[in-house]
Amino acid sequence: MRVVLLGPPGVGKGTQGRRLAEGQGWALISTGEMLREAARKQTPLGLEAQRQMDAGLLIADDVIIGLVRECIAGPEARKGFVLDGFPRTVPQADALDRMLSEQGVQLDAVVSLGATEEELVRRLSARRECPVCKRAYNLDSAPPKRDGTCDDHPETKLIQRVDDRPETVRKRFVVYREQTAPLIDYYRRSSQLRDVPGLGTRDEVYRALLDALGRGAGAR
Ligand code: AP5
Ligand code: MG
Repeated sequence: MRVVLLGPPGVGKGTQGRRLAEGQGWALISTGEMLREAARKQTPLGLEAQRQMDAGLLIADDVIIGLVRECIAGPEARKGFVLDGFPRTVPQADALDRMLSEQGVQLDAVVSLGATEEELVRRLSARRECPVCKRAYNLDSAPPKRDGTCDDHPETKLIQRVDDRPETVRKRFVVYREQTAPLIDYYRRSSQLRDVPGLGTRDEVYRALLDALGRGAGAR
């Protein structure tokens, strides 16, 4: 299947996207992770992206579209993919449509994950990430076994994303409402949208996500 995960910062796109991709054998295409990786390597794209990300702003559509085009055309994406963080604007959604129709395929579902802003702020302020495997921990609800280090990479210190600072989180919510939330209606009009509550435990959200994709325990 080809699935888009849509939703505000902190709703669980990365957490659920990773589990879904691993569970189903699909590729995970996360534009945020690609940009953070480029920033760590200090490539020209990474340095420019870092400035935008730290300010809570989006990277230019043509840059992001180019990145995703390569991934979608790659061999790993042939078995199916989960898009986390793309598309994020209407021009990106139009470009995705064109890329897929050039390949003679289409999206199977766009999942809209939702949660209250109060819960999202709580999650983001407690998020810590492993810079090696990108696993997202949470000091409140999913802490690492040992303080401050990744369970799978004990030598690696967990980091807090710069854009998880409160003032940047507020900016990211504004950007989400203005530029990304319109995609909910965009995909609702084409009957591809499935609403899934992002509130509840990770397992509950995952079960609801699988059900929405017709892959839950009850699916044949
Ligand atoms: P991106 O990395 O995509 O960030 P985002 O959309 O703001 O989303 P987050 O990664 O913050 O949250 P998430 O939904 O993945 O939640 P997570 O699973 O981590 O983008 C970052 C930046 O890159 C953008 O601001 C922009 O600058 C740029 N960019 C990226 N894509 C772009 C594009 N297409 N166009 C232009 N620019 C782009 O969960 C959050 C926390 O909650 C974690 O601690 C987790 O453990 C915890 N958690 C998860 N689920 C639950 C649960 N059910 N209960 C309790 N806690 C939970
Ligand atoms: Mg994420």
